[in-house]
Amino acid sequence: MTQTINRTYRIGGDLEVGRIGFGAMRLTGQPGNFGPYEDWEAGIALLHAAADAGVTFFDSARAYGPLAADRIIGEALAGRKVALATKGGVDKPPPGHITVDGSRDTLLRQIDEALVNLRRERIDLFQLHRVDPETPIEVSVAALEEARADGRIAHIGLSNVTRNELDQALGIAPIASVQNRFNMDETGDDGLVDYTAQKGIAFIPYGPLGANPMQRGARLAPREALAWLVKRSPNIIAIPGTTSIDHMRENMMAWDLV
Ligand SMILES: NC(=O)c1ccc[n+]([C@@H]2O[C@H](COP(=O)([O-])OP(=O)(O)OC[C@H]3O[C@@H](n4cnc5c(N)ncnc54)[C@H](OP(=O)(O)O)[C@@H]3O)[C@@H](O)[C@H]2O)c1
Repeated sequence: MTQTINRTYRIGGDLEVGRIGFGAMRLTGQPGNFGPYEDWEAGIALLHAAADAGVTFFDSARAYGPLAADRIIGEALAGRKVALATKGGVDKPPPGHITVDGSRDTLLRQIDEALVNLRRERIDLFQLHRVDPETPIEVSVAALEEARADGRIAHIGLSNVTRNELDQALGIAPIASVQNRFNMDETGDDGLVDYTAQKGIAFIPYGPLGANPMQRGARLAPREALAWLVKRSPNIIAIPGTTSIDHMRENMMAWDLV
């Protein structure tokens, strides 16, 4: 029997996006994803090429740059009909230094800044980047729910969470997505993929190619790794990260293998 594989998924039941998206972490200064992307115009061209190639879901985070990935996405994709996701609760003031703050006031301030940087009146998906050990997840999620209720964000997502943390968050607000590390060589969240699928929650695997796939001598070519992911579960939205237009187009061709 032939299995039909949907090319799109409705995040939160109403935000329909293609299941091969784009991860913008590397559109920042290197090394360390710190500062703006060196060749800004090339980054803008890459984002346009991605939207032209049919990418409808772009994943960013406040911490990428910090702010630089949100800004390049906002500049390139202003006015284009694509879904934008970003994250808050983690910041990277100087290179190599990470701060985690999931308090209400910080998250709400970061949402306001993301609206400006992404050039949107509403953020399609705002994700808690990481649970703050000093702030109960319920408090962080309640802040995101406040922003959802007043229309600043459309959907709430979580990142780097366990099933228990997801359950705690679900007690406070609808959760539309979970973004954790997952790829064909790192399948520790296999159970969570199935759990989120049952609950109608998107699973957004990061590092979908295992990061630096060619350098690591990956088992499969990137296209094959992406085809494996989209076949693994209908709620998976892959966000391969690339700085190359050719690689982005090649990644979209994973559909030819599905
Ligand atoms: N939530 C979190 O905590 C978290 C953490 C990490 C990442 N993320 C998200 O996940 C996204 C993806 O993660 P990632 O960038 O670490 O890993 P990845 O997508 O698995 O791998 C990216 C690497 O693969 C290369 N690549 C991409 N397509 C290729 C192709 N067709 N052929 C050969 N090489 C290819 C890229 O180099 P080139 O530039 O040369 O193509 C880059 O070195 C990020 O952009 C970010 O949005 C989230």
